[in-house]
Amino acid sequence: MDIKKLISSAFEAQDNSYSSYSSCKVGAALLCKSGNIYNGCNIENASYSPSVCAERVAFFNAISNGEKDFCAIVIVGNNGKDEFFYPCGVCRQVMSEFCDGDFSVIVAKSEDEYKILSLSDLLPFRFGKEDVL
Ligand code: THU
Repeated sequence: MDIKKLISSAFEAQDNSYSSYSSCKVGAALLCKSGNIYNGCNIENASYSPSVCAERVAFFNAISNGEKDFCAIVIVGNNGKDEFFYPCGVCRQVMSEFCDGDFSVIVAKSEDEYKILSLSDLLPFRFGKEDVL
C-alpha cells in the first residue's frame, strides 16, 4: 500500500470540503482491494442535519461505483488543533457494514505523520448483520 499517495489523495479531497458552517475541513481517501482510490469530503447544509462526513462520502462513492472490498481509509481533518482527526461513531458503523476488523483506518496530519489503527481498535463489540434477526 502506498500510504503517502493515499494521504495526498485525502488532502486533495479536503480542498473540496463544503464546510462553511463548522469551518472544519475533512478529507478522506478510501483504497479498495481493486487498487482504485475513492475520495470524499464533508458536505454541510444550512439545515445542518443533512450534512455528511467525508468518510461516508468516500464509502458511498466507492460502493456506488461497484466496489465491494476495502483495504484502508485515510482521514485528514482541520479542527483548528494540531491533533489527529478520528472518525465519528456513525462513520465507524458504516465502515463496519462493509469491512472486517482488520480494515486499516489511517489518521494523518501530513504525508510523514500518521497513525494506523484497525477498525476493531475503533469499534470493538460491533453490531452487524449477524445481529439482526
Ligand atoms: N466530520 C467528518 O467529516 N468526519 C468525521 O468523522 C467527523 C466529523 C465533519 C462533519 C461536519 O461537517 C464537521 O466535520 C464538523 O462536525
